[in-house]
Amino acid sequence: MTQPLLSVKNLTIDYIGEEKDFRAVDNVSFDVAPGEVFGLAGESGCGKSTIAFAISRLHKPPALIRKDSQILLAGRDVLDLDPKALSAFRWREVAMVFQSAMNSLNPVLRIEDQFYDVLRTHKGMTKAQARERTAEMLRLVDIAPDRMRNYPHQFSGGMRQRIVIAICMALDPQLVVMDEPTTALDVVVQREILQRINELRKQFGFSVLFITHDLGLMVQFCDRIGIMLQGKLVEQNSAEAIYKVPQHEYTRKLWASFPSLHGGVLL
Ligand SMILES: Nc1ncnc2c1ncn2[C@@H]1O[C@H](COP(=O)(O)OP(=O)(O)OP(=O)(O)O)[C@@H](O)[C@H]1O
Ligand SMILES: [Mg+2]
Repeated sequence: MTQPLLSVKNLTIDYIGEEKDFRAVDNVSFDVAPGEVFGLAGESGCGKSTIAFAISRLHKPPALIRKDSQILLAGRDVLDLDPKALSAFRWREVAMVFQSAMNSLNPVLRIEDQFYDVLRTHKGMTKAQARERTAEMLRLVDIAPDRMRNYPHQFSGGMRQRIVIAICMALDPQLVVMDEPTTALDVVVQREILQRINELRKQFGFSVLFITHDLGLMVQFCDRIGIMLQGKLVEQNSAEAIYKVPQHEYTRKLWASFPSLHGGVLL
C-alpha cells in the first residue's frame, strides 16, 4: 500500500465502570490509503462506533483510550492534538456523518447560514464567498442552489442527509467517517447518496471509513473491509475476498446470516 492516510495502531478502548471496566475495542490495527473506502462490519456492540468516535476525537468519558494506542492521520497522532489543533482537525481534516446526521441541522437557521457558520469559522470566508461555495456544494449533491434560503424542515430526509454531506465536503476533508450514514433512509435514496459520495470521492480524493449493518451495501461500496467480533478485528481483506473467500469462521457466519436480496450475487 502507498503511505496510508489513516493508520490505526493497537487501538484499545475501555469503558470505565464503577465495578469493572469493559473492553470495547481490543488492540485493533488497520490502515486506510488515500482515496480508499474502508468498511468496518460486525454485530451490534462489537465496537465500530467506539472506533469511529475515537478517530474523530469525539469520544468522551467513560470511554478511555489505553496507552500505546495510536491513530495517525497523515503521520500525525490524532490522540496528541491539543484543543486548538483539535478544532481545526475536526472539520478540515476529518468530517463525520452519523445515522442521525439529517437531524443535526439547526432547525431555526437557513441552510446558507449553516454553511456560513462552518466556512467563516474554518476558512475565514465572507458572506459572499460562503454563498458561492454553498451554491457549488449544493450542486454537487443535486440540490438546486436557490434552495439555500430554505430551512431544514422544507427538505425531505434524504435531501437533509445530502445537505449534511455537502457541509462536510465544503472544507475538503481528507477523511470522511460515516457511521450508518444512510440507515434511516429508504433503499433507493440510500444508494443514490452512496453513489454521489463515491463520485465525490473520485473527484476530490478523500478517504472514507464506512460503517453499516448492510453487508451487501458494504461489499459494493468498499475497497477493503475489516470484520470485528467483540472488540477485535478478526479479519481484513479486499471487499471481494471478504465476500468470496472469507477466512474467519465468524465472517462466514455473518454472510450466512445475511439474507441476499440479489439472489446470492452481490458483486
Ligand atoms: N458510554 C458507554 N458506556 C459504557 N459502555 C458503552 C458505552 N458506549 C458503548 N458501550 C459499549 O461498548 C460496546 C461497543 O459499542 P459500540 O457503540 O462501539 O458498538 P457498535 O459496533 O457501534 O454497535 P452498533 O452496530 O449497534 O451501532 C458495546 O458493548 C456497548 O455496550
Ligand atoms: Mg454503532
